[in-house]
Amino acid sequence: MSARWFRVCRRDELKDGSARSITILGKPYAVFSISGDVFGLDAACRHMRANLAAGKIQGNFVTCFMHDWKYDIRSGKCLTMEGADAPTRETKIENGDVYISVEWPEDF
Ligand code: FES
Repeated sequence: MSARWFRVCRRDELKDGSARSITILGKPYAVFSISGDVFGLDAACRHMRANLAAGKIQGNFVTCFMHDWKYDIRSGKCLTMEGADAPTRETKIENGDVYISVEWPEDF
């Protein structure tokens, strides 16, 4: 498995305290802006797969809109259910665009 970068949105479209989502090979990913930094997570909530980008963002945390599972956006740690952490993804800003790094199958 290798990794590829995918453009999610323009940096100026991602306001602080907000998120954007992208679906790649059927899997949702999200980027979040917190205090000027951008973080990436697998967007499917570990409970029943609701998109965390649609959750409520408060400080460094996002709360899933479905049943209120809470995650630390910086680490993906789930504060509601031990071991149900959301995998983190690298992000980068290039030419004013936000990119997320996604695992990519070698044979695709
Ligand atoms: S789907 Fe996220 S808390 Fe249930």
